[in-house]
Amino acid sequence: MSLPARFSDLKREIAAAYPDFEERATRAWIEIIEQLKEVTADISNHGVDYIPQVNYSDLETLSKEDIDKIKRRGCVVIRDIVNDTEAKDWKTSLEDYITANPGLDGYPANNPIFYEIFWTKAQLQARSHPNILSTTLWLTNLYHIKGESVEGMDLSNPLSYADRFRIRRPGPQHTNILPPHVDGPTIERWEDPALREYFSEILSGNWHLHDPYEMGGRIKARNSHYERPNQASIFRSFQGWLALSETGPTEGTIQFFPSVALANAYIILRPFFRPLPSADATSIMDAKNWEFDISSPDFPGIHPLDGGYIGPRPTPALHPHLRLETTMTSVPKMRPGDAVFWHCDVIHAVEEEHKGQGDSAVIFIPAVPQTPYNQAYVEKQRETFLSGRRPPDMPQGKCAEFPEGKREDHYVGFGTLDDISLAGRKAMGFPVGVVQG
Ligand SMILES: [Fe+2]
Repeated sequence: MSLPARFSDLKREIAAAYPDFEERATRAWIEIIEQLKEVTADISNHGVDYIPQVNYSDLETLSKEDIDKIKRRGCVVIRDIVNDTEAKDWKTSLEDYITANPGLDGYPANNPIFYEIFWTKAQLQARSHPNILSTTLWLTNLYHIKGESVEGMDLSNPLSYADRFRIRRPGPQHTNILPPHVDGPTIERWEDPALREYFSEILSGNWHLHDPYEMGGRIKARNSHYERPNQASIFRSFQGWLALSETGPTEGTIQFFPSVALANAYIILRPFFRPLPSADATSIMDAKNWEFDISSPDFPGIHPLDGGYIGPRPTPALHPHLRLETTMTSVPKMRPGDAVFWHCDVIHAVEEEHKGQGDSAVIFIPAVPQTPYNQAYVEKQRETFLSGRRPPDMPQGKCAEFPEGKREDHYVGFGTLDDISLAGRKAMGFPVGVVQG
């Protein structure tokens, strides 16, 4: 479906805002396509080994080379953040919750993989585990901020975002649940002035100077202009999940396009170019078969949904130079207590089929810096926990039976304040008295 006509005005507005836009963007486009040839070959040749892996206990002593690699690739597996027994106990606790409360909402509705449940004991304990909080803090501190600090901002204080859990059984996946996509802002990447600032080096043609770890523009951004349910409104420096069971490649695990700055450069400039009508599947790979064009309102990979937009969802047809068929790289085998994290701009997907034997269970836990917007969000989120409702960013399940939205607090095994560590309470925005116990 096409985007509204006003989005061609948006392209014209961007083109007018940057000096010599056509010339500079075209030069950048050619360079990016050239660079992608090299990087995509490197990714495909290395496969699983391209995803950096480190031990939790080594986080504070990693070399600059290791850290640079993690930043460049935009993703990392961190081993043994919590011990196996604790992680396995959380899986058992989630399974007991599902058994004790038949008919929980989830997706797909008839046999859920993702549960619309946010406040189980296991989730509260995992999110507030001191090692999880110190890991997310470490990840956030891979970022930096240019110039003066912003009032209300504290990068030494991790916040807690309530997200779902997933238990996936072996077998094929309901089609197309999670094809390659980027989380968070969709059309806002171009529409929001602060996000344009974040991407300004790309838009001005200096794409190689784009730093996805400079959070100045990011913290001022309005990530969700249309308030579409399921679109995170906060700034998560990294999204991630903690494994509660073993899962490896071909077992329905997550995949990445592990080159964050380059993917950003390509995705952000893609809407300003189109292939020549004469280009075929082979010649489309050559930059000279593309031309600058801002007449169309379309932003390839961005699609209307539920009153807002979804995407970027790059595809081999729309974004051929990413060579997604061979570059979407599965994470290596994960064991209970390991976690994987990916920068908020990283293209990721979930393998369509789970060919393994056992359930693959994970709790989603992002890294959330304390910024003024994020702090206000976690305080609203805290109130939803206290009243047993779903977090503000999540679909509320409003219907005739539940006009205010669905609640969780009548379920057997609903978590309480006692399941949240003191540090976790602070991360949830509880006042000092509650934090001190
Ligand atoms: Fe995602």
